[in-house]
Amino acid sequence: MISKDTIERVFSTLQIEEVIGDFVQLKRSGANYKGLSPFSDEKTPSFMVSPAKGIWKDFSSGKGGNAVTFVMEIEHCSYPEAIRYIARKYNIDIEETEVSPQVKEAAQERDSLYIVTEYAASWFKEQMHSTSAGRNIALSYFRSRDINDAMIERFALGYCPDAWDSFTQNAIAAGYKKEYLEKTGLTIFREDGKAMDRFRSRVIFPIHTFSGRIAGFGGRTMQSEKTIAKYLNSPESDIYHKSDILYGIYQSKNAIIKQDSCYLVEGYMDVISLHQSGIENVVASSGTSLTEGQIRQIKRLTQNITVLYDGDAAGIRASFRGIDMLLSAGMNVRVLSFPDGDDPDSFARKHTATELKEYLEGQRTDFIDFKARMLLDEAQGDPILKSRLVRDIVVSISKISDHIKRELYIKQCSRIMDVSEASLFRELSQIDHHNAREYQQAALRAANREAAAARLKVAREGENTREEDTYIRRLEEDIISILLNHTHLPIHMEEVIDTVDENGKPQQEKHSYDTTVVEEVIDSLSADGISFTDSTLSIVYNGIKSAYDAGEEISHHLFLTSDNTDVITAVSDIMADPPALHNWNKVGVDVIDFKYIAHTYTRDLILRYRVVMVDKMIKETEKEISQLQGEGKHDEELIKKLMMLKNISTRLNKELGGRVV
Ligand code: GTP
Ligand code: MN
Repeated sequence: MISKDTIERVFSTLQIEEVIGDFVQLKRSGANYKGLSPFSDEKTPSFMVSPAKGIWKDFSSGKGGNAVTFVMEIEHCSYPEAIRYIARKYNIDIEETEVSPQVKEAAQERDSLYIVTEYAASWFKEQMHSTSAGRNIALSYFRSRDINDAMIERFALGYCPDAWDSFTQNAIAAGYKKEYLEKTGLTIFREDGKAMDRFRSRVIFPIHTFSGRIAGFGGRTMQSEKTIAKYLNSPESDIYHKSDILYGIYQSKNAIIKQDSCYLVEGYMDVISLHQSGIENVVASSGTSLTEGQIRQIKRLTQNITVLYDGDAAGIRASFRGIDMLLSAGMNVRVLSFPDGDDPDSFARKHTATELKEYLEGQRTDFIDFKARMLLDEAQGDPILKSRLVRDIVVSISKISDHIKRELYIKQCSRIMDVSEASLFRELSQIDHHNAREYQQAALRAANREAAAARLKVAREGENTREEDTYIRRLEEDIISILLNHTHLPIHMEEVIDTVDENGKPQQEKHSYDTTVVEEVIDSLSADGISFTDSTLSIVYNGIKSAYDAGEEISHHLFLTSDNTDVITAVSDIMADPPALHNWNKVGVDVIDFKYIAHTYTRDLILRYRVVMVDKMIKETEKEISQLQGEGKHDEELIKKLMMLKNISTRLNKELGGRVV
């Protein structure tokens, strides 16, 4: 930990306008300074620094604080990191307290490694700019790839000469310890003690940490022989963890924050080229597949990521796993691929900055959408393959933890892949055991919705009232079925009712109550004054209702001894089918424990029944009215009734359709 003394010294030494002045161009304005907000793209300055008070205020974003919080905001770093940063700026020695000797030693060791890498970076840079070999070989190489001086500077590019150990010799002469040269991997010491520069004869890409220190290097050969590895990287060390490295994060983090989005590419050159074309919110995974550590760093800055591909379909497939990790991390993932043979670098060089920007913004596609379409193309006409691929896409969806998002994706995939929402949810429940029950319920609700929508469509489209009667009869069967099979099952119901507050303003109130299946059904239907249309089922319903009213036991036995054989047949049929779920089985939903869905099921069933009954009444009333009109008559009461029914229908339909799972 940094000692209190050091922190006090940092605060008493720093000049807020100097600290901020490194990031924002400040102009004096009376006792204060003004500048353009570094947190937004503004044209007129609304950023203010008060040296007297030691504070800053950004009126465009509402942020404000002292010098340390400014560094934390702009560098996206922690408090101690900010203190360290300012201490370094003012050459204040940092005193550590309360750390164990081991921790202290490790910190010192890491610091020593960084000192070596930072020396190396500046030496490589100097070699490129100040030696003729550097200029002729390395600088001209970057020029031939159209990299301009500003980018060479921004990414601190350099060159390690074509000699066995010129770097190592120089480093040792400058007083750097062999131990650290070896640990950073800059030098390879052979058994016989001979030293070799790891990056000899390569152009150098220093790899910066999040806060701008140099963790390691990538070195690219300038030869095109296939026998030589194109890139060499620093080996793992206390400061270089391959799995945590994101090339370009330091140079890109401010743009990522500002634009609240990040492009992910594969190569060093892709990052640099995009920067040069004005796309500064870009990082590279450096050829490895994405890791948790890398994702964490991006997530500190934004939730929105666009993965840029330069590969073929196989390469794209291979990256799907990394993308699932991004989804698991709660990121919004979009993808984009380049035309054949192009990578972001070559594409950027062939097009103007505007064209590039338009391409990136126009072509990026939501990942799930992209994956669903891509898989669908592959499965063209092969149902077995298709079902495998459906599972594949559902695996991706299962990574998303946000309920609403997941559901939207299910809907979308159902549309794209022409698979029912219910079976996608069912698939989801098999993949994600943790939330299986939740998905099973969702599957049932989706099936219910889909089946009802299909039935309503049939019922509404067809002039054929027989279809509608069949539908009504089915609903009536379902009602009898839950009444007989789940009579006293307790259910917890919720409803939203329209009320007014004390000022007479309309408002909605949420109500919940505990009831049972039989109570809920009979109370609702009685309140509506609805009676069953099917004469046989009507007998059964009325039988149940009078048993209920009389407080007698309700069961199918009440009817099995009836002298009406139609009643016996109807009740036996209903009892023979799995409880209340026979409609759903048709759309492929497994029968699950009814009690988990009893409340929604009951509610939906009653609602559907009311909708269809009201619609039937509307039709009948309309018919009556037009008959009277034909006779030149006009019945005010009937018109009123029609209007009322239409109002009810609108409300019920809204309730039915407006509810999402
Ligand atoms: P250029 O060929 O110079 O355009 O490089 P690039 O940055 O476009 O690299 P490419 O697309 O070929 O590869 C993507 C990334 O994978 C590179 O930036 C490297 O990080 C990594 N990579 C490529 N080749 C090698 C290799 O031979 N060894 C190692 N360790 N990494 C490599
Ligand atoms: Mn390339």
